[in-house]
Formats: sequence, C-alpha cells, structure tokens
Amino acid sequence: MSLALVHSRARLGVRAPEVRVEVFMAAGLPQLTIAGLAGTVAREARERVRAALQASQFELPGKRITVNVAPAELPKDGARFDLPIALGLLAAAGQLPLDALREVELLGELSLSGALRPVDGALPAALAAAAAGRALVLPADSAQEAAHARAAVVFGARTLAQVVAHLRGERPLTRAQADEPDDAANPRPERDTPDLADVVGQVQGRRALEIAAAGQHGLRLSGPPGCGKTLLARCLPGLLPPLDAAEAEELAVIRSLAAPLRAAGGWPTRRPFRAPMHGASAVALVGGGGIPRPGELSLAHHGVLFLDELPEWDRRSLEALREPLESGEVRIARAAMQLEFPARPLLVTAMNPCPCGWAGDPSGRCDCPSEAIARYQSRVSGPLLDRIDLHVALRRVTASELLGTATAECSTTVRARVVAARGRQQARQGKANALLAAGELDVALAASAEARALLLRAIDRLALSARAAHRVQRVARTIADLAGEAGVGAAAMAEAIAFRMPLHAPAVAARATLQAGRNREPANADGVAGTH
Ligand SMILES: Nc1ncnc2c1ncn2[C@@H]1O[C@H](COP(=O)(O)OP(=O)(O)O)[C@@H](O)[C@H]1O
Ligand SMILES: [Mg+2]
Repeated sequence: MSLALVHSRARLGVRAPEVRVEVFMAAGLPQLTIAGLAGTVAREARERVRAALQASQFELPGKRITVNVAPAELPKDGARFDLPIALGLLAAAGQLPLDALREVELLGELSLSGALRPVDGALPAALAAAAAGRALVLPADSAQEAAHARAAVVFGARTLAQVVAHLRGERPLTRAQADEPDDAANPRPERDTPDLADVVGQVQGRRALEIAAAGQHGLRLSGPPGCGKTLLARCLPGLLPPLDAAEAEELAVIRSLAAPLRAAGGWPTRRPFRAPMHGASAVALVGGGGIPRPGELSLAHHGVLFLDELPEWDRRSLEALREPLESGEVRIARAAMQLEFPARPLLVTAMNPCPCGWAGDPSGRCDCPSEAIARYQSRVSGPLLDRIDLHVALRRVTASELLGTATAECSTTVRARVVAARGRQQARQGKANALLAAGELDVALAASAEARALLLRAIDRLALSARAAHRVQRVARTIADLAGEAGVGAAAMAEAIAFRMPLHAPAVAARATLQAGRNREPANADGVAGTH
C-alpha cells in the first residue's frame, strides 16, 4: 500500500484554510473513490482527473485508489482540487517523488485535455502558502494575481504535464511576476479626489469632514441640491492618512474575491471611494450570493463608502448595513461554516432635507407641507441614522461667498491634523475613537465636570438614546484630539452635541444656517446650552 499527501487551500471569504489531499493505493479491484467532496463535485472531479491524466499520457495502475480531501467540514466547492488530486495519484503510483510534494501547495481546475483553468481566491491562497513557508503552483491565469503577494513564491503552469515536469525537476517553471496595474482602471487622485481648497464656504461641512476623518466617524450631509454634498464627500479620501502595507494587503484580498485584481486597478495604492447607486441590492451592498462575494461595504474597507440620496434607498438594503457597521465585518453563513469579509469603511451619506430639497433655506422657497417633509425623512431608517455620529445641515453657498477671494485650507493641511489626531488615539487606546466600546469611554474621555453636565442636559433635552449619547462622547473625544487636549472640555462636548441635533425641523435648520453665516462657532450648540 502506498500513500501520498498533497497540500492545497480551500476558499473561505478572505481566508484560505489548509486542505490536505491524501491518496491511498492498495491491491484490489481497480476503482477510484473520492471522499471529502460532495457527491456530484466528487464524481465530476474524478472524470476530469481521469481524462486529464489520460490525455497527458500518464497511466494509473489498476488498483483500488481512495482519495480523501480533508478536513471534511470545510466547504469544498468547485474544481480547485483537481490538480492536487491528479498529482497525489501520480505520487502514490510512484510516478512522482513523494518529496517533491512536501514544500509546495497546489490549486487548479483541469480540463479534459489536461490544460489548467483559473481558480478563484488565488491571492489569499498565496498569502497563506507564504505564511506556511511553501511555494504555490497555480494555473498561469491565476498566478499573476497571486504573485502580488510579495512574500509568496508562485509558479504558473498551463498544463498538468508542465506541473509534473516541474516537480520532477525536469523543466522548472519560472516564477510568476505580478502583472502591472492597469492605469486606466486605477483611480487618479487629481481627477477623482477634489481638494478642500476648491470648496467654497461650508465651514460646518469642512469641520465635519475633518472630525469624521480624524476619528473614523460616520457622517450625514443634508442640504439643498447643488450645495456641495457630493463635492465634500469626494474630498474625504484626501484627508485620510495614506494606505499602509497591511491595509493594502487586506483590501487587495477583498478586491480579488470580487473581480480579477487587474480589472480593479491592480494592487491598491490609495484608499477606495465607493459610491454605489441607490438601486443597489442588499447583496450588492453587503455581499453574499451563491459563491459569496464581497459587496460595496467591503470593497470600501479602509476607505470611504458614499451613499447618496439616502431616502431613495431601499430600506432592506440599508437595514442590511446595520450589523456590519457595528461589527466591522460582514458575516455569511455557509453550511456548517461561517465566512467573513472585513468591512470598515468611513460611511458618508447625503440627502436633501425634503422632496423639493429646500427645507430650511433662508429664502423660504420650500413649500413642502410639513407632513411631506416628515414622510420623506422617515424613509431613512432610524436605526441606521442612530449609527451615524455626525449630522450636518448644509446651506447653499451665497453669491458673495462664491465670488469672494477668501482662500480655504487645502486637504494636505487638514490631513496633517487628522494624522496627528489619529496618532493620539493610537497611543492612548490603540484604535480610532469611533471604535471605542461604551465601557471604555469614561477613561478615554477624561471629561471635565462642565462637559459632563452639558452631556446630561443634552441627553435630557434631545431625548438621546444610550447609543446616541455614546456617539456624542466619541465625537467629543475626537474634537479634543484634534485640538491636542488631554481631557474633553465643555467646548468639545458642545460641538459634538451640535452634530447630533435634529437637522430638518425647519425652524432649527433656518436658525442654524443663519448662525453659521454669522460666525464659525458650531451651529445651534447654544440651543443645548440653554442660552436661548
Ligand atoms: N461649496 C462649494 N464650493 C465649490 N463648488 C461647489 C460648492 N457647492 C457646489 N459646488 C459645485 O456645484 C456642483 C454641484 O455640487 P454637488 O456637490 O454635486 O452638490 P450636491 O451633491 O449637494 O447636490 C459641482 O460642480 C460642485 O463642484
Ligand atoms: Mg450630490
């Protein structure tokens, strides 16, 4: 009896758990059984492997052969184990040295002619193989993508015969090189990310962007058409610190599971900005499907997810965001297993305040009945809004502002403050303020007595839920971090509370806009402090 062992990898979201293909060969009636794969999958694999071996002029001995694909509990869909099964058969039959399979992992679907077809999830498999200290042999069409994992040793082959010749040491394959990023598909910062210097006015909006970027806080921009909501949202990637190597790797894996990495612009070098349209389904937004793929929420991981026209979105799609926004990952149940896609984007949403778009405008040009305004706003899921930290009412830019010569700060200057504030958060608690657990807030905030009193009054007057009160505190912490303050004082708390005020009660919004025009203080914070 002889036994061969081949290393391979399953696909489980962004993970690639190890799979062992064991081949036993013993005397007995000629027979080939594959255990550990589902019935049809096993039958099809057997036929492909047999035909491919034959077409490649390899002969199997007439013996009783059992293949076991382990562990049994991993979901093992598809044909990615064809190549390891074929090589295991050859090794057990003595046609390939057993040693040749020790330091290598293999993945690949075989066609009946012995050609190799590409597999999904090549990049996570390459990263996992590298971590295990083994090389990875893949179909040539998958190898370029896998070669992006710099630590990995990846070989691409076109046929089964090439793999065998490589492992026998007869004709070694050349190491695969990462393909060049496709320039056309790569986002160009100068085109896709506007600079804050080009945004006129919108003092509150700019401030909210800076706080959102500094503390990783979700943001809602509300205001009339053309006031610059989309413009502001698009500035956000330029305010975030550059993508680091570990973040880029995580994002590359996610992208490679949605589409070939090349089509997505290759290895990510910048933070993503994803702006799905409001027709997007829940699956498109959060991921899923027969073969689970990451959705927009994960494709925006470490970057920005922009949901425009919030009231137009399907409620179910928005509801599907709630859990992942809280946990930072999308979980998909598959048979006995669960797979995860990381999903921690900065969420930015935008909406008009009412059907005509002008509610709260000082011109009074909105004549939507108040019930229509209420109905419009209630289309947005309350629980989703509850999970957004910063709410800002924007007004349109006045003619004098547009024509004025005042120069605004550029994104580079703001980003320097963001990076400094993030550095303080890392040093203090090892994560962004938005991710602070409720139980960590007291210590992290070190709030003054005055700040605490302000918060208590706001909870009372604005009927804030516990969740909302926690969000106010996280925002206050970020405001203090931007100012370089060790503890949260009254000013930081008041500004944080202002970002939680109801946006569109017309009177409040009008007062807010008037005030924002007069000074740079946070709009309507005084309403909370009770000075009116
Ligand atoms: N505050 C502003 N400063 C500079 N340009 C602006 C401003 N607000 C709007 N614009 C310009 O007006 C157009 C519409 O802005 P947009 O951001 O799409 O508005 P919204 O999303 O609020 O409807 C864009 O070309 C944008 O560049
Ligand atoms: Mg817009």
